[in-house]
Amino acid sequence: MDKTAKRIQHWQSVLAQKWHINAELTPLDGEYDLNFRATAEDGAGYIVKVMRVGCDRWLVDMQVKAFEHITARQPQLPCPMVIPATDAASLLTIRDENGQERLVWLLGQLPGRCYAHIAPKSEPLIHEVGQVLAGTAMALADFHHEGLARDFKWDLMRAAWIGDEITCITDPARREMIKDIHAQFAALMPALNALPKQAIHNDANDYNILVTGALSAPRRVSGLIDLGDMCAAPRICDLAIAAAYVVLDHARPEAALAALVAGYHAVYPLTTGELDMLWPLLRMRLAVSVVNSTLMAADSPDDPYVTISQAPAWRFLEGNTLHAGLLAARLRAACGLPVVKGAERVQAWLEQERRNFAPLMGCDISDAPLGSLSVEQSTWPQNPFHMPLEEAARVGAEFEDQGRIWLGYYHEPRLIYAEPAFRKGPWKASDRRTVHLAVDVFTAARTPMFAPMRGEVFVAEYRAGHLDYGGVIILRHETPQGDPFYTLYGHLDPEFLDRLRVGQVIERGQEFCRLGDATMNGGWAPHVHFQLALTTEGIEADWPGVGDPDEMYLWRAICPNPAALLNLEDDRVRYAPTSKHDIREARKQKFGGNLSLSYADPVMLVRGWKHHLFDEWGRPYLDAYNNVPHVGHAHPRIQAVAADQLKRINSNTRYLHPAQTAFADKILSKLPDHLQVCYFVNSGTEANELALRLARAHTGAKGMVTPDHGYHGNTTGAVDISAYKFNKPGGVGQSDWVELVEIADDYRGSFGRDDPMRAQKFADLVDPAIASLQDKGQGVAGFIAETFPSVGGQIIPPKGYLAAVYAKIRAAGGVCIADEVQTGLGRLGAYYFGFEVQEVLPDIVVMGKPIGNGHPLGVLVTTREIAASFDNGIEFFSTFGGSTLSCRIGREVLQIVDDENLQDNARQIGGQLMAGLKTLEAKYDCVGDVRGMGLFLGVELIRPDGAQAPEICAYVKNRMRDHRILIGSEGPKDNVLKIRPPLTIEAEDAAMIIEVLDHILGEVA
Ligand SMILES: Cc1ncc(COP(=O)(O)O)c(C=O)c1O
Repeated sequence: MDKTAKRIQHWQSVLAQKWHINAELTPLDGEYDLNFRATAEDGAGYIVKVMRVGCDRWLVDMQVKAFEHITARQPQLPCPMVIPATDAASLLTIRDENGQERLVWLLGQLPGRCYAHIAPKSEPLIHEVGQVLAGTAMALADFHHEGLARDFKWDLMRAAWIGDEITCITDPARREMIKDIHAQFAALMPALNALPKQAIHNDANDYNILVTGALSAPRRVSGLIDLGDMCAAPRICDLAIAAAYVVLDHARPEAALAALVAGYHAVYPLTTGELDMLWPLLRMRLAVSVVNSTLMAADSPDDPYVTISQAPAWRFLEGNTLHAGLLAARLRAACGLPVVKGAERVQAWLEQERRNFAPLMGCDISDAPLGSLSVEQSTWPQNPFHMPLEEAARVGAEFEDQGRIWLGYYHEPRLIYAEPAFRKGPWKASDRRTVHLAVDVFTAARTPMFAPMRGEVFVAEYRAGHLDYGGVIILRHETPQGDPFYTLYGHLDPEFLDRLRVGQVIERGQEFCRLGDATMNGGWAPHVHFQLALTTEGIEADWPGVGDPDEMYLWRAICPNPAALLNLEDDRVRYAPTSKHDIREARKQKFGGNLSLSYADPVMLVRGWKHHLFDEWGRPYLDAYNNVPHVGHAHPRIQAVAADQLKRINSNTRYLHPAQTAFADKILSKLPDHLQVCYFVNSGTEANELALRLARAHTGAKGMVTPDHGYHGNTTGAVDISAYKFNKPGGVGQSDWVELVEIADDYRGSFGRDDPMRAQKFADLVDPAIASLQDKGQGVAGFIAETFPSVGGQIIPPKGYLAAVYAKIRAAGGVCIADEVQTGLGRLGAYYFGFEVQEVLPDIVVMGKPIGNGHPLGVLVTTREIAASFDNGIEFFSTFGGSTLSCRIGREVLQIVDDENLQDNARQIGGQLMAGLKTLEAKYDCVGDVRGMGLFLGVELIRPDGAQAPEICAYVKNRMRDHRILIGSEGPKDNVLKIRPPLTIEAEDAAMIIEVLDHILGEVA
């Protein structure tokens, strides 16, 4: 028997004797001590802790007692339970297999994986880490043990020891930085020493926190383990140590810290004094880590692990650009505490003085109307990614009334902050600042303004950038109690530059500046942006006039509603976007339950532009899902055509209009010559329903053959040929006039890509279907298929498949219907229609969705012979099908595809996406297949055994939405990601899709 086996056997028998637990033992990694995972016969898990020879008893005794104390005080906390031996002792001294005495104790095992290995490290999870840490600190507040007074290097109170060792860091810049951190820490010591000390965990690092939950299941903190570094110190040290790990390699460390402290504060409230120490203590802890590991590296120069483990701490210390003052304000705001000293007094005083301030505009503005520039209510600017000067100079023109004053809302999300400077990431769909933090007063240029109260000039400058402030003044004020605050006046005539100096006093009611015009105020329609700020910490250089909607907890606190200073009521100027929650609730009340919503957290979309969408807060989303806005959301030419036609006439096909034939000509120009007759209807469904009637009229038969998992529409007839609907649980079931054939899926179906005969073999499945229809006396009216099945899982049938099927159907007397609702009109890039790829000539082609770009429109095109069979004396009429408006819009869509080379764009960007997806297929085992053509793409997600993985697909889809990318999922098992954007999508958007998908698949792996 080898040494390890002997050791395991020894401790296994100890466990059986002393605890009466029969268990299998597995050794765990440990530097000094022996730890084993024990799995008992009844499935229960334990951790056997066998301490190193010579280990101090007080150290272990302290941990055992502390765990017992936590369990007694806060039994709900996820802390391991100490399991006493059968003689009731919690800590035993037992000889090991070599006869040496060791301290031994037993803990209950907790579920979960190390926080270090969890992705994503979401804010809710970090919030819970804060809560658990706070609960533990609270439980330990009255824990006493002589060991807590230990003198060791990981006690942050004693961290000044690194001062003597800084020279071990050879890089001069790094050495300077550590010196700096050390000096800031030294300055903090008196305040730190004044805080009460208590027992703290002192090592909530990412290997001591356990987390449960995978994929879409929420991540929950399931354990805070290892009290080996406990000591007595102010509790903020405990939090700072956890914080030092939470920020490492986090994409948004400031948000992570806010979540952590908010979680802590909710359980064990912190003071502002403690909160303000978090950042210097966090940095000091990282400094201790890097100095310590540098010293260790000197001791063991061959151990690369030492340097590797330092890397994240250096990355953070050297790379972060967080401003200490602004971060302190953020952490205070996250805890609902005053953002700066005196903030609450300033607000109370402003409240008290409301209506007593000198009027800013020299007159009472309490009756001035408000005009909304919000995402929901206004359409400024037309392009939310670029506002040209001409447009900026006219913003709000609809509210203009001969120079009379009108007001713009505080807290209003707007899209007019369109330029890349307002984006917080590299992509168009990156988070952006949209929410207005001021009140605007619009009136004529050069209108003079008067100080609402006495103040000192703090800033008086000219900012020349496009859509910047132009002339801008910041005044510093003080309340009678001496608490400072600031007011900002933007978009001014810079004439004040000659008059005003920093420090100059402006008296209450004194005229001190005037409104600029568009040539000097950043380019805007004349107005003043009037903002209040309680601090300028961290925003001196770049005072934000708008904030990120997801950070309003901070910006609302720093820049509260300035209405009081304008002698207005807060509510009057405060904007509230439509509540998504209210709409969702109303929808539940007013609509059928099977009207589905996408995403676990649905989106409310109120604006679109090309292939981007915006929610009620102006958050942008990349639309990689919707094929209906074929030429892009809110296309100006579609807007123009629709508006133009609605001013003239919108009537039906019982009257002549040239738009009808013009639309028909345009469609027919895209189709093979044998297709000559058009029918205009309102939807894909209606077109397919009509196709059935035409097929029956032409053949005199009723039976239809169609691939499994297909979808052709929502009416009775269309559902009957849509296995995707009729075969679902609760579906109407298969009609006797319908025969299904296996979908020609050569990834997962009966015939694989390695079979050169697969197209023919799939096509041969039509033979028994035809025979069955004939046996039943239904005859064969025809075959209908989505050319590339979409809901079936973005399937690309093998070449030759449709040609073989069509031959069989025609031989049986049927007609061949190509449903091109998904695949037509250039989406496939190299081809205008899917049937061209399959080199077939359908008898009927059905188009829908994209052809109206959102306007309800369906089109059926067929041969003259089939049309003649249908023309049996009964009128065909669809009230809205072929309306003048529809015809104008439909033609315009097709014309835009041509004019903007969108088919070629689909080819190029589709190629880029496909190449990117292929690299992900090679990188991740869960990507089973990548397929598609142009901008019709599918990514099949699988489990390790190759089975469909809908759980991964749902996770990826929701996480993509978290990252502001909308994609869909399809397939019989809903495990195929569907990427099917408007044809306007650009290279940078495709790059975003691939980068984000890569990141999210990394979370799954
Ligand atoms: C292939 C196909 N055909 C027909 C339809 C029905 O179109 P509509 O919803 O416009 O009636 C759809 C809709 O998703 C479709 O994907």
